[in-house]
Amino acid sequence: MTPEETLGNAELNYIQHFMLERTGIALEKNRACLVELRISNLLRDLHFSRASDLVNAIHMAPLGAVASALIDALTTSETSFFRDRTPFDILGQEIVPDICKRSAFPLRIWSAACASGQEALSIAMTIAETSQQLLLQTKILASDISQQALLQAQCGEYSELEVNRGLPARLLMKYFTRAGRNWRAKPSLMSRIVFRDLNLVHLSLKETFDVVFLRNMLIYLDDAAKRTVLKNVARCMSAGAYLFLGGAETVIGLGDFFETVRFGSNLCYRLKK
Ligand SMILES: C[S@@+](CC[C@H](N)C(=O)[O-])C[C@H]1O[C@@H](n2cnc3c(N)ncnc32)[C@H](O)[C@@H]1O
Repeated sequence: MTPEETLGNAELNYIQHFMLERTGIALEKNRACLVELRISNLLRDLHFSRASDLVNAIHMAPLGAVASALIDALTTSETSFFRDRTPFDILGQEIVPDICKRSAFPLRIWSAACASGQEALSIAMTIAETSQQLLLQTKILASDISQQALLQAQCGEYSELEVNRGLPARLLMKYFTRAGRNWRAKPSLMSRIVFRDLNLVHLSLKETFDVVFLRNMLIYLDDAAKRTVLKNVARCMSAGAYLFLGGAETVIGLGDFFETVRFGSNLCYRLKK
């Protein structure tokens, strides 16, 4: 069955509306082909013969397993170790020493929208390379809305291909062990990370953090949802806490919570006082 045969306009509209309301993700009309393909694969995996069966199942149980599978299918969990490198250099060389001077321990760092966990592990390795002792005084929260991505993040296990994307061989040997054909992060890293299923659009989190990595997530959202997410995240940051966004993302025009901080030619954001 082709995507056109399985997915009518009414179902596509329902799914677009569901994703926008639940996750803030705007499934643009010009990407309909990709959306249709992903939904067609999901229908096959769930043994539904029609898209209306999928819509009915979500309508009956908006917080159920089928809704969760749809979110998994329509979120983009692309990530890699030390993605874009610079934020991790700034974290280790500038921000951690600054926070250590003025904050009480533990150091609290949040990888919001962590996907399959490479970002949280890269943060843990950055801290460990600064000081093993400091890592013991660091708490990292890694969260995502995708159950599938979180499951891999919690296992901390990666294929050869995944470790070859951004992880230097020296750090691979130091912080990972072989697990069959895969590599598994050592308990010294994993034990510092708590994993949680959190929706940044409808966020109920009471903790506060010194540094937040919110990278390559806002780009998928419409402007209203971007504002909501930044407001929710700002509420979970301690005074003077730092925020990293992805290279194609900004806070400009999306509320007044953050000021820009420059590190050479690079920048990140800090919660306004
Ligand atoms: C492209 S990945 C970014 C991963 C990592 N931060 C990086 O930069 O490599 C985007 C992640 O955002 C997550 N996401 C999308 N909408 C979300 C929401 N409303 N709440 C929490 N996570 C969300 C997706 O599940 C996906 O794993």
